Amino acid sequence: MLGSARRCLLPKQRTFLGVGHFRGLWQSQRCSHGASSHEGNHLFNAQAAPTYKDAYERSILDPEQFWAEEAEKISWMKPWSRVLDHTNPPFTKWFVGGETNACYNAVDRHVADGHGQRAALIHDSPVTSTQRSITYAELQQQVSKLAAALSSYGVKKGDNVLIYMPMIPEAVVAMLAVVRLGAVHSLVFGGFAARELSVRIRHAEPKVIISASCGVEPTRLIRYKPLLDQAITMSGIEPKRCIIYQRPGLPEVATMKPDRDVSWDEAMDSDRSHDCVPVEANQAMYILYTSGTTGDPKGIQRPTGGHLVALSWVMKNIYAMKSGEKWWAASDLGWVVGHSFICYGPLLAGLTTVVYEGKPVGTPDAGQFFRVIQDHGVQGFSTAPTALRAIRREDPELELGRKYDTSSLRFVFLAGEHCDYETRYWAENKIKVPVLDHWWQTETGHPITSTCVGLGHSLSPPRDASGVPVPGYNVKVLNADKVEAERGTLGRIVIKLPLPPGTMSTLYRADDRFSSIYFNDYPGFYDSMDAGIMDADGQLYVMSRDDDVINVAGHRLSTSALEEALLEHSCISEAAVVGVPDEMKGELPLGLYVTTKANTKPEEEINKEAVQLVRELVGPVAAFRLICGVEALPKTRSGKIARKSIADLARGKSVVIPPTIEDPSVYVGIKKALQQLGYALNVADPE
Ligand code: COA
Ligand code: AMP
Repeated sequence: MLGSARRCLLPKQRTFLGVGHFRGLWQSQRCSHGASSHEGNHLFNAQAAPTYKDAYERSILDPEQFWAEEAEKISWMKPWSRVLDHTNPPFTKWFVGGETNACYNAVDRHVADGHGQRAALIHDSPVTSTQRSITYAELQQQVSKLAAALSSYGVKKGDNVLIYMPMIPEAVVAMLAVVRLGAVHSLVFGGFAARELSVRIRHAEPKVIISASCGVEPTRLIRYKPLLDQAITMSGIEPKRCIIYQRPGLPEVATMKPDRDVSWDEAMDSDRSHDCVPVEANQAMYILYTSGTTGDPKGIQRPTGGHLVALSWVMKNIYAMKSGEKWWAASDLGWVVGHSFICYGPLLAGLTTVVYEGKPVGTPDAGQFFRVIQDHGVQGFSTAPTALRAIRREDPELELGRKYDTSSLRFVFLAGEHCDYETRYWAENKIKVPVLDHWWQTETGHPITSTCVGLGHSLSPPRDASGVPVPGYNVKVLNADKVEAERGTLGRIVIKLPLPPGTMSTLYRADDRFSSIYFNDYPGFYDSMDAGIMDADGQLYVMSRDDDVINVAGHRLSTSALEEALLEHSCISEAAVVGVPDEMKGELPLGLYVTTKANTKPEEEINKEAVQLVRELVGPVAAFRLICGVEALPKTRSGKIARKSIADLARGKSVVIPPTIEDPSVYVGIKKALQQLGYALNVADPE
């Protein structure tokens, strides 16, 4: 079934219209240097963009005035009484007392303004050979109906609704219907296993869960409903209702549980509608779980008013998008990029947003990104570097991509992980538009540093830079003494409080954890946990995470969660997981383990089972395949595993054995194991 679906992906022949649209300023700057020499490429200077400079200074010196002006640009049902309340840091509040609704601003407002017939959303699904367009008026109608159904199932302002769906328009409808009621959604990425889903169900205790019969991966169907049923049982939390969208044209049919499950069609089968419910600006709009230092997921809680204000500011001032234009963020709704820039950001700006259900390569080929850009006239595009690396590997000369006319495109924005310069440079040369990196996190909800296209920045930032601080973010790099590092030197990236509107308000049900994780180590600052360098012009170079989080193909994973999964294997008594470099995915997890004394199972068998265990407990998205048994792990006298030394060794860095290590001789076995897996090949023995 899937094979045949993919064979008929291209319904019509497409002609090559050429991509000769290298733009003036961009061309003159970029052509002046070759792939191997970019030393002269310091054209960007924060001073050189007066609009940016003015906006940035105002945002830092008078944040209240700056953000109050921006907040006027969205619709409020009740004005705020106070712009900023920073009396109880880090629990900063913006637009206190103001009432608004995210769905009204994203959908109803555009219909009221006469744009009901404009496409709000285009679903482009090469994996099912379908394309579907939904206007703002249709979106309003569907969202309103679903909101009415949710309300009839007892969902009201402040209640949690969990969404577990593939990349289909109904997922966006579900998000908007929840916030229409002033309720809070928790959307879980489809690539997680049932256990990860169950943890989120247990934590959020949703009144209703909205899901679908299945998702479609290139080689298999993901049967969502059995995974959901399993997760609900594991969580011990029974939602009042599960609304299940049965995907048309696919063989998987969801089995429904009487009295609990209703089909999407049944829920939508009425003339009911529901108005937008006003919520106070600081009420949660959604919870989005992300990985941290421990295996416990952190429920990032996003405040409503600030988020709407920040996103509508970003669409205009960073991405320079105008109402009616076409936008595509090639990511998944399950990540923060999906929340901010597939759903809310583009809809707030009145754009048409593309929801893509496919991959950069393999569905069916490496030309699909360019086909989508051509088919829908995409003007602004954002993706993760790993997607470009995948295309480059398959089609280095862009022979497939070049068949499509991508002249509508103005730029490509990258985020989610560090982008190696070779990939960025390749993409710029091949796609012939600026490829701009920007840095942000689930916690912030919108970019922290960027090239702000709408504020007049040069579109040719220095190589490897992730842009300058976005207005609202007072970014500093601190050295080991916790004072500002000299420009050009490495340190911890922190942000001076108060954070701008739209950043997380707390961790769901974990105020203390919120304070201690992000604000304890650097009083007065938000700790990004990233290390980096700021240059004399204010450009930030983000180097690496300083905690136990790794970034696999733009997916943020906790090494502790992977270790916990390994430890569930009955033959494994100790485990260490570290991130190692990978050309395609940026990083890959690598696990070393020690077996129990009683173990008699061959290593090969344990490895196979452990890989499968991680797939089942964490999910396939962890891409966990590198694993090896060792005699012992390097441990300090207090029993802590020295993971950093393992990671350094794997990366080919010479390791000085910390004096606190109990038995330095274990490094002999560690190095051997890493070498078996293809790492630590040309590095001296740790001493
Ligand atoms: N549901 C079920 N399984 C999924 C899934 C989903 N939604 N997404 C990925 N998987 C599975 C894949 O099928 C694959 O399984 P396999 O081991 O059986 O082959 C595995 O998880 C690894 O997936 P991934 O590393 O994501 O590779 P991919 O080929 O599926 O996708 C990209 C490649 C580039 C499209 C994808 O990695 C991506 O979109 N990355 C960017 C993420 C991002 O936007 N980050 C920013 C976060 S804010
Ligand atoms: P997430 O919360 O999943 O978006 O992951 C955020 C983390 O991804 C950051 O803390 C960084 O470590 C990494 N990251 C995101 N964008 C970039 C970027 N442009 N350059 C380098 N690292 C990035």
